[in-house]
Amino acid sequence: MNLSARWIAFMLSLFITVLTVVFLNFVPGTTAEMLIITGSSCFLATYFASYYTIDVLVFQEVEQIYKSVKKLKIKDFNIKKKSLFNSQNPLKLLNTEISDYVTEKQKEIEELKRMETFRREFLADVSHELKTPIFAAQGFVHTLLDGAKNDPEVANRFLKKAAKSLDGLDALVRDLVVLSQVETGELKMQFEILDLVKVTKDIFEQLEDKAEKRGTKLRLKPSKIEDCHVVADPQRIYQVLTNFIDNAIKYGNDNGKVTVIFEEQKKHFTIAVEDDGPGIPKEHMNRIFERFYRVDKSRSRETGGTGLGLAIVKHILSAHNSSVSVTSKPGKGTRFSFTLLKAD
Ligand SMILES: Nc1ncnc2c1ncn2[C@@H]1O[C@H](COP(=O)(O)OP(=O)(O)OP(=O)(O)O)[C@@H](O)[C@H]1O
Ligand SMILES: [Mg+2]
Repeated sequence: MNLSARWIAFMLSLFITVLTVVFLNFVPGTTAEMLIITGSSCFLATYFASYYTIDVLVFQEVEQIYKSVKKLKIKDFNIKKKSLFNSQNPLKLLNTEISDYVTEKQKEIEELKRMETFRREFLADVSHELKTPIFAAQGFVHTLLDGAKNDPEVANRFLKKAAKSLDGLDALVRDLVVLSQVETGELKMQFEILDLVKVTKDIFEQLEDKAEKRGTKLRLKPSKIEDCHVVADPQRIYQVLTNFIDNAIKYGNDNGKVTVIFEEQKKHFTIAVEDDGPGIPKEHMNRIFERFYRVDKSRSRETGGTGLGLAIVKHILSAHNSSVSVTSKPGKGTRFSFTLLKAD
């Protein structure tokens, strides 16, 4: 029920009028005329007096609250003074507006807190990741300066190690730049029609040495597929597929098999990268897309991984309105897949 000032005043005056008329009725000598005149004047007087009192009290309070809120210069508190004072129930309106505003602010505060924790953790992770290759390179250079440079063979070995650490540092910084660009939306996707079979063959060629060292066989499925035209950003999709194939080689078994599978649907192509490696334990599955997350940190560092690959991939695919699906069976292998719009 809407308890407006008018309605309360009406109920109150009706109640008092009925009460007065009933009592007056018991007074000897009271005529019907007297009852009508007393009743109506009592009703009118009570009605206007109570209406005016409620109105003044309520509006004074509302005005006070309104002024306090306005003093806070809250931009998103957009209730107009006019609509508030013309409303049947200004207190209710004000209350709804304030509680909506508080809920909204509460959400913002929680988001800010989450971002703050995230930023702190990210900074700690970045410093830790940067420290490792810098310290390693620094160690090698100092050892060289301390005399190792006099032995050409040792000097060569140490320089190679220092160079490897610096290459790792370079890859890490480059990944961080790409990640921050995709996250802030600075990196705009350049959509074009491209042939994913050709892209995959190029990546196979690029990673041939790496695969050969582990005895990994790189395959396409269907093996005789000629082309697969999709709409995507060529450079970014190259990066996505490179990371999936590189991961499959790195984290797969020696003498294993890595297959890139193309499945055609009505409007999309599903592209999957499958390996027959040890798989990803279930408890790590949800976390592998987090920055710097690696299932086996020591193994990953050995293979030169920064743990940023899948975080970048996730952002790139989301900019393509796609997402990554991953299934993994321990001991059997892992399959990463995503869909892309078919070019017509
Ligand atoms: N095919 C796979 N089989 C098993 N584990 C995998 C596979 N792909 C990814 N992972 C796990 O997920 C982690 C995250 O992968 P991601 O590509 O983000 O990082 P990375 O390969 O270690 O480093 P980067 O890609 O930056 O070189 C890896 O460290 C690995 O533990
Ligand atoms: Mg990777």
